[in-house]
Amino acid sequence: MEVIEILREASKKIYENVKELAGTEHAAGDFGIGAGGDISRNIDIIAEKTVLDYLKEINFECIVLGEECGHVELSNNSKGYVIMDAIDGSANAVRGVPFFCSSLAFATENKLSSITEGVITNLTNGEMYWASKNNGSFFNGEQINVHDKDPIYKIIGINTSGASPELMKRLSPIYEKHEHTRHFGANALEMALFARGLLDIFIDLRGKIRIQDIAAGYLIIKEAGGLLLDANLNPLDADLSYETRVSFIAASNQKILDEIVSLIDQ
Ligand code: IPD
Ligand code: CA
Repeated sequence: MEVIEILREASKKIYENVKELAGTEHAAGDFGIGAGGDISRNIDIIAEKTVLDYLKEINFECIVLGEECGHVELSNNSKGYVIMDAIDGSANAVRGVPFFCSSLAFATENKLSSITEGVITNLTNGEMYWASKNNGSFFNGEQINVHDKDPIYKIIGINTSGASPELMKRLSPIYEKHEHTRHFGANALEMALFARGLLDIFIDLRGKIRIQDIAAGYLIIKEAGGLLLDANLNPLDADLSYETRVSFIAASNQKILDEIVSLIDQ
């Protein structure tokens, strides 16, 4: 079985196991602090267990880097890393806000740039985004590309959850100039929407986002033709450690990148 098929299958199984849970008391059960530093909710644990059980069942020789379970070696002859955020947008999932997803990626080395497969599934409806390196990005079977025409409405995605007052001040010219700014609460799914051409740019300059939240989106954006840069406008890369936190700008073309960057107070 190809790695991309394994991740797609694992992702489908998450959807099957959590689709009735969003917004329920059962989803919210508190399992203490997970490896990523946030409280693990029952829905996170159920989703992660689904993936771990499946990878064990098919004997996939890998090391799992899960947001809740941490580093789990499923073999001492590992082919690479499965980077798992089984529920991205946990707060939405627990409250029942219909915007959350799973994010699964495979990397051959300890680097974002060595990711070869990524799958993001919208867990509210089972819609799936995926990419394999050099093979393009897909949404429910159709190839997708970032938006590269002048849009009717320019939609600017900005993650400002928990942003400092200083960052809000730097970003304020964007809010003054643009009427259609958005943040939905699940970074991976927002990266997928961007890759599909529904947002023109998506930025997260908080320096807070974990590797698990962006690993699959990283490849899906690149394979859809998006520019993906760090806060210094260099190509985004990082190691896969649990301490790593990143900032990034995903832009559909150089023109919108230049325009938005010129608005951010340095
Ligand atoms: C969170 C979401 C959210 C972002 C947070 C992440 P989680 O992921 O991606 O949009 O603002 O920084 O932690 O915790 O729900 O997996
Ligand atoms: Ca999560």
